Order: sequence, then C-alpha cells, then structure tokens
Amino acid sequence: MQTKEKPIGVFDSGLGGLTVVKKLIEQLPNEDIVYFGDTARVPYGDRSRETILEYTRQDMAFLLSQDVKAVCIACNTADSMARTEMEKLYTLPIVGAVLPAAKTAVRVTLNRKIGVIGTHATVASGAYKNSIASLDPACTVYSVACPLLVPLVEEGRFHKGDAVTESVLADYLAPLREKGIDTIILGCTHYPLLYDMVASLLPGVFIICSGFASVDYLKNELAGRNLLNDRQTPGKTHFFVSDAPEKFAANASLFLGRPIGGQVKKVSVGQGVCD
Ligand code: DGL
Repeated sequence: MQTKEKPIGVFDSGLGGLTVVKKLIEQLPNEDIVYFGDTARVPYGDRSRETILEYTRQDMAFLLSQDVKAVCIACNTADSMARTEMEKLYTLPIVGAVLPAAKTAVRVTLNRKIGVIGTHATVASGAYKNSIASLDPACTVYSVACPLLVPLVEEGRFHKGDAVTESVLADYLAPLREKGIDTIILGCTHYPLLYDMVASLLPGVFIICSGFASVDYLKNELAGRNLLNDRQTPGKTHFFVSDAPEKFAANASLFLGRPIGGQVKKVSVGQGVCD
C-alpha cells in the first residue's frame, strides 16, 4: 500500500475527539481514519504530566501499530503535555490541537487579548500561552480551567437553555469578559458542543474550536507532503476504545452528529486488539 493510501490516526482520551473526526470526514471525505478513544482512563485533564505522557505514548504506539500515515492528537490535554515528546519519538506528521488554534487566534485578534478555556492540565501546561507568545509576543493570554464542563457535556447538557451548564459556563467566562478579550480558544475536545452558549455569553468575541483548526492544518500538512489520498470513493472510519465499546457507540452521535455505523473494537493499548 502506498503511504498516501494509509489511514489517518486520531486519538483522544475518550469520546470528545469525535468532534474532530466529524470535521475530518467533512474536509477529507476520501481518507480512511483510525480513531482510538482511551475510554478506560478518561479523563486525562486532571492527571499529572507523567501520567499523561505515559498514556499518550501508549495511544501513539497503538495508532502506529495500525500503520497510519499521520496522527492527529485531538485531545488538547495530551497535546499540551506531550506533543513535544512525541515529535522527538516519531518522524511521521503529528498535528495537535494547540498550535493550529494559537495560529488562528493570533491571525484574527484585533486587540491582542485572547482567552483560552480547557482542562486543568491544559491550562497548567502553559502550552497555549507559550505558543501564542512565540507567534506574537504582544498578545496577552488569559486562561481559565473549566473542569466541570467535560462531565456536563458527556451528560448531554450542552443545549442552549440548560440552566446548570449556562450558569457554570457564565461563572468560568466572567473573568475573561472582564479582561475584554476579543478572541477565545475552546481548548478542549468537548467544548465545540458549547459553541452557542459561549457565543451568547461572549457576544462579539471570535470563537475558535481548537480541533477544527487542526483539521485545516492537517489537510495542508498532508498536501505539502503529497500524502493526501487521491482516490474518489468515501473513506472508512475504524473505531477502537480501551473500555465499554457499547457505551462509546451509544454516545458517539452526540459528538459525531450521526450514529457510528460500524463496529467499535476494544483494545488494550500496547497489547493489540482483544475482541
Ligand atoms: N479530551 C480532553 C481534552 O481535549 C478532555 C477530556 C479529558 O479530560 O480527558 O482536553
């Protein structure tokens, strides 16, 4: 098989990375995709750097065992804490969530005040702050960790009018509003589902969904290396998880916007397919 015919690997700590897969299928419909969701160990967002590094190494190794041509680290937490290490270990293209979103933010901001929301680990890593500073040192980044948002989204509580989620989100966004940001990065796989709520709480603020920026970035990266699959038929997506495949399949449509329409296989990362 030619390299360009190989699948694109995508991994996340769980379900949330399906928001990126959805975008990937829209933008690159002829590509095959291998998705791995580490559902046995989600969430990553409250864990230590060492643990996130170890999990990311294993997630990457699994995708490599599937002979992928490139990897998209959909998980902001894994990308923030571990991409630099992964780039030292592997030569294939690795596209994360942070850099593409940081580049978009720097391009669109007018007042150079940029807000970032994400998990505890993403914010603690300083990855967004550092990326933005390296692109435009005149920008000021205000970051807020929002640990309650992932569980709320996973419970399906992301629709406008959900009083609990709106109040939690309003509380998290209040300091960013006070700072007068004109751009916000939704630095977590789950937050695109909160787009409408964020838009109504921060009117006039430019909203960047991190994973969506990385799909454009990946497309350019593959094109630049002549790695885009040029066949004319739709690609297939293969789903792997480390726990509870039925639950993943049942909840996937929340993030993917449609049913999975295929089998979800359970794997032990590092040890191959179990069933
Ligand atoms: N996927 C994670 C992220 O984008 C959110 C869920 C978690 O904490 O693992 O940061």
